[in-house]
Amino acid sequence: MLSRRSIRQFKQDPVSREILGKLINSARLAPSGANLQPLEFVVIDDEDLRKMLFACLRWAAYIAPEGNPKPGCEPVAYVVILVNVDVRESGYERDVGAAVENMILAAWEESIGSCWIANADTNRIQNMLKIPENYRVDCVLALGYPDEEPIIEEMKDSVKYWKDSKGRLHVPKRRLDDVLHFNGF
Ligand SMILES: Cc1cc2nc3c(=O)[nH]c(=O)nc-3n(C[C@H](O)[C@H](O)[C@H](O)COP(=O)(O)O)c2cc1C
Repeated sequence: MLSRRSIRQFKQDPVSREILGKLINSARLAPSGANLQPLEFVVIDDEDLRKMLFACLRWAAYIAPEGNPKPGCEPVAYVVILVNVDVRESGYERDVGAAVENMILAAWEESIGSCWIANADTNRIQNMLKIPENYRVDCVLALGYPDEEPIIEEMKDSVKYWKDSKGRLHVPKRRLDDVLHFNGF
Protein backbone atom coordinates (compact mmCIF):
# COMPACT_ATOMS: atom_id res chain seq x y z
CA MET A 1 0.00 0.00 0.00
CA LEU A 2 2.74 2.41 0.96
CA SER A 3 5.03 1.79 -2.01
CA ARG A 4 2.27 1.63 -4.65
CA ARG A 5 2.20 4.39 -7.24
CA SER A 6 0.20 4.79 -10.43
CA ILE A 7 2.34 3.46 -13.27
CA ARG A 8 2.03 4.77 -16.83
CA GLN A 9 5.21 3.35 -18.43
CA PHE A 10 5.33 -0.42 -18.75
CA LYS A 11 7.81 -3.12 -19.76
CA GLN A 12 6.45 -5.31 -22.53
CA ASP A 13 6.73 -8.61 -20.59
CA PRO A 14 3.30 -10.27 -20.56
CA VAL A 15 1.21 -10.65 -17.41
CA SER A 16 0.18 -14.32 -17.13
CA ARG A 17 -3.43 -15.42 -17.34
CA GLU A 18 -2.94 -16.98 -13.91
CA ILE A 19 -2.10 -13.61 -12.38
CA LEU A 20 -4.91 -11.89 -14.30
CA GLY A 21 -7.29 -14.49 -12.85
CA LYS A 22 -5.96 -13.77 -9.35
CA LEU A 23 -6.68 -10.06 -9.82
CA ILE A 24 -10.28 -10.69 -10.82
CA ASN A 25 -10.64 -13.04 -7.86
CA SER A 26 -9.44 -10.27 -5.53
CA ALA A 27 -12.05 -7.94 -7.08
CA ARG A 28 -14.78 -10.60 -6.80
CA LEU A 29 -14.13 -10.91 -3.05
CA ALA A 30 -14.12 -7.17 -2.32
CA PRO A 31 -16.72 -5.63 0.01
CA SER A 32 -20.03 -4.86 -1.73
CA GLY A 33 -22.86 -2.63 -0.48
CA ALA A 34 -25.86 -4.83 0.52
CA ASN A 35 -23.73 -7.64 -0.95
CA LEU A 36 -25.43 -6.96 -4.30
CA GLN A 37 -22.19 -7.63 -6.25
CA PRO A 38 -23.13 -5.70 -9.40
CA LEU A 39 -19.63 -5.72 -10.89
CA GLU A 40 -18.20 -7.86 -13.70
CA PHE A 41 -14.84 -7.63 -15.42
CA VAL A 42 -13.54 -7.94 -18.98
CA VAL A 43 -9.85 -8.78 -19.20
CA ILE A 44 -8.08 -7.63 -22.36
CA ASP A 45 -4.72 -9.13 -23.29
CA ASP A 46 -5.21 -9.58 -27.06
CA GLU A 47 -2.79 -7.35 -28.98
CA ASP A 48 -5.31 -5.85 -31.44
CA LEU A 49 -7.87 -5.17 -28.73
CA ARG A 50 -5.17 -3.60 -26.54
CA LYS A 51 -4.34 -1.13 -29.33
CA MET A 52 -7.99 -0.24 -29.79
CA LEU A 53 -8.54 0.18 -26.06
CA PHE A 54 -5.41 2.29 -25.66
CA ALA A 55 -6.89 4.82 -28.11
CA CYS A 56 -9.89 5.26 -25.75
CA LEU A 57 -7.83 6.26 -22.67
CA ARG A 58 -6.50 9.58 -21.36
CA TRP A 59 -3.42 9.74 -19.18
CA ALA A 60 -2.07 12.08 -16.49
CA ALA A 61 -4.18 15.10 -17.43
CA TYR A 62 -2.09 17.64 -15.43
CA ILE A 63 0.96 17.00 -17.59
CA ALA A 64 -0.62 15.77 -20.83
CA PRO A 65 0.76 14.60 -23.18
CA GLU A 66 3.99 14.08 -21.20
CA GLY A 67 2.43 11.44 -18.92
CA ASN A 68 1.22 9.23 -21.78
CA PRO A 69 2.85 5.82 -22.06
CA LYS A 70 5.66 6.24 -24.59
CA PRO A 71 5.53 4.12 -27.76
CA GLY A 72 6.72 0.67 -26.69
CA CYS A 73 5.77 1.32 -23.03
CA GLU A 74 2.01 0.75 -23.30
CA PRO A 75 0.10 -1.45 -20.83
CA VAL A 76 0.20 -5.18 -21.66
CA ALA A 77 -3.22 -5.95 -20.19
CA TYR A 78 -6.36 -4.21 -19.01
CA VAL A 79 -9.36 -4.90 -16.82
CA VAL A 80 -12.55 -3.15 -17.93
CA ILE A 81 -14.87 -2.72 -14.95
CA LEU A 82 -18.56 -3.24 -15.71
CA VAL A 83 -21.63 -2.50 -13.60
CA ASN A 84 -24.79 -4.52 -14.16
CA VAL A 85 -27.37 -1.74 -13.82
CA ASP A 86 -30.19 -4.30 -13.51
CA VAL A 87 -28.57 -5.30 -10.23
CA ARG A 88 -27.73 -1.77 -9.07
CA GLU A 89 -28.60 1.40 -10.97
CA SER A 90 -26.78 3.88 -8.70
CA GLY A 91 -24.66 3.92 -5.57
CA TYR A 92 -22.27 1.26 -6.86
CA GLU A 93 -19.28 3.61 -6.92
CA ARG A 94 -17.95 2.44 -3.55
CA ASP A 95 -18.10 -1.16 -4.79
CA VAL A 96 -16.01 -0.11 -7.79
CA GLY A 97 -13.51 1.63 -5.49
CA ALA A 98 -13.08 -1.41 -3.25
CA ALA A 99 -12.78 -3.83 -6.18
CA VAL A 100 -10.29 -1.72 -8.12
CA GLU A 101 -8.10 -1.05 -5.08
CA ASN A 102 -8.09 -4.80 -4.31
CA MET A 103 -6.84 -5.45 -7.87
CA ILE A 104 -4.24 -2.68 -7.66
CA LEU A 105 -2.81 -4.10 -4.42
CA ALA A 106 -2.98 -7.72 -5.59
CA ALA A 107 -1.12 -6.69 -8.76
CA TRP A 108 1.53 -4.77 -6.83
CA GLU A 109 2.10 -7.84 -4.64
CA GLU A 110 3.10 -9.57 -7.91
CA SER A 111 5.34 -6.57 -8.84
CA ILE A 112 2.82 -5.49 -11.47
CA GLY A 113 2.12 -1.80 -11.81
CA SER A 114 -1.25 -0.34 -12.68
CA CYS A 115 -3.08 2.84 -13.50
CA TRP A 116 -6.73 3.35 -12.67
CA ILE A 117 -8.35 5.19 -15.56
CA ALA A 118 -11.71 6.91 -15.32
CA ASN A 119 -10.96 9.37 -18.12
CA ALA A 120 -11.99 7.03 -20.90
CA ASP A 121 -14.33 7.01 -23.88
CA THR A 122 -16.66 4.51 -22.25
CA ASN A 123 -19.24 4.55 -25.09
CA ARG A 124 -16.59 3.57 -27.59
CA ILE A 125 -15.33 0.82 -25.26
CA GLN A 126 -18.90 -0.45 -24.81
CA ASN A 127 -19.37 -0.77 -28.59
CA MET A 128 -15.90 -2.14 -29.26
CA LEU A 129 -16.27 -4.96 -26.70
CA LYS A 130 -19.97 -5.60 -27.54
CA ILE A 131 -21.02 -5.03 -23.93
CA PRO A 132 -24.81 -5.49 -23.50
CA GLU A 133 -26.89 -2.37 -22.80
CA ASN A 134 -27.74 -3.35 -19.23
CA TYR A 135 -24.05 -3.07 -18.32
CA ARG A 136 -22.25 0.25 -17.82
CA VAL A 137 -18.53 0.58 -18.50
CA ASP A 138 -17.32 2.39 -15.38
CA CYS A 139 -13.54 2.55 -15.67
CA VAL A 140 -10.42 0.67 -16.77
CA LEU A 141 -7.39 -0.66 -14.94
CA ALA A 142 -4.22 -0.67 -17.06
CA LEU A 143 -1.57 -3.24 -16.12
CA GLY A 144 2.02 -4.24 -16.74
CA TYR A 145 5.44 -4.54 -15.16
CA PRO A 146 6.64 -1.01 -14.31
CA ASP A 147 9.14 0.83 -16.46
CA GLU A 148 9.16 3.93 -14.26
CA GLU A 149 9.53 4.68 -10.56
CA PRO A 150 7.38 7.64 -9.53
CA ILE A 151 8.23 9.21 -6.20
CA ILE A 152 6.01 10.85 -3.60
CA GLU A 153 6.63 14.37 -2.34
CA GLU A 154 5.20 16.27 0.60
CA MET A 155 2.45 18.43 -0.81
CA LYS A 156 3.10 22.16 -0.62
CA ASP A 157 0.73 24.41 -2.55
CA SER A 158 -0.49 22.20 -5.38
CA VAL A 159 -1.89 18.72 -5.95
CA LYS A 160 -0.39 18.67 -9.44
CA TYR A 161 2.16 15.95 -10.10
CA TRP A 162 5.14 16.84 -12.31
CA LYS A 163 8.00 15.28 -14.25
CA ASP A 164 11.57 16.37 -13.56
CA SER A 165 14.28 16.92 -16.17
CA LYS A 166 15.09 13.19 -16.12
CA GLY A 167 11.45 12.30 -16.81
CA ARG A 168 10.75 10.99 -13.30
CA LEU A 169 7.22 11.57 -12.02
CA HIS A 170 6.83 13.31 -8.64
CA VAL A 171 3.47 12.94 -6.89
CA PRO A 172 2.50 15.36 -4.09
CA LYS A 173 0.67 13.82 -1.12
CA ARG A 174 -0.94 15.72 1.78
CA ARG A 175 0.87 15.46 5.11
CA LEU A 176 -0.38 12.94 7.69
CA ASP A 177 -0.91 15.78 10.20
CA ASP A 178 -3.13 17.59 7.70
CA VAL A 179 -5.55 14.70 7.25
CA LEU A 180 -5.56 13.01 10.65
CA HIS A 181 -8.07 13.99 13.37
CA PHE A 182 -8.29 12.07 16.63
CA ASN A 183 -11.59 12.07 18.57
CA GLY A 184 -13.27 14.82 16.54
CA PHE A 185 -12.22 17.56 14.13
C1 LIG B 1 -11.00 7.37 -9.52
C2 LIG B 1 -9.65 7.58 -10.17
C3 LIG B 1 -9.60 7.90 -11.52
C4 LIG B 1 -8.36 8.07 -12.15
N1 LIG B 1 -8.33 8.32 -13.49
C5 LIG B 1 -7.13 8.48 -14.11
C6 LIG B 1 -7.09 8.68 -15.52
O1 LIG B 1 -8.11 8.74 -16.20
N2 LIG B 1 -5.87 8.80 -16.11
C7 LIG B 1 -4.71 8.70 -15.39
O2 LIG B 1 -3.64 8.80 -15.98
N3 LIG B 1 -4.72 8.52 -14.05
C8 LIG B 1 -5.91 8.40 -13.40
N4 LIG B 1 -5.93 8.16 -12.05
C9 LIG B 1 -4.68 8.07 -11.28
C10 LIG B 1 -4.42 9.35 -10.48
O3 LIG B 1 -3.97 10.36 -11.34
C11 LIG B 1 -3.35 9.04 -9.38
O4 LIG B 1 -3.90 8.11 -8.47
C12 LIG B 1 -2.91 10.30 -8.64
O5 LIG B 1 -2.21 11.16 -9.51
C13 LIG B 1 -2.01 9.97 -7.44
O6 LIG B 1 -0.91 9.19 -7.82
P1 LIG B 1 -0.63 7.77 -7.14
O7 LIG B 1 -1.71 6.84 -7.62
O8 LIG B 1 0.74 7.38 -7.64
O9 LIG B 1 -0.68 7.93 -5.66
C14 LIG B 1 -7.15 7.98 -11.40
C15 LIG B 1 -7.22 7.66 -10.03
C16 LIG B 1 -8.46 7.45 -9.43
C17 LIG B 1 -8.52 7.08 -7.96
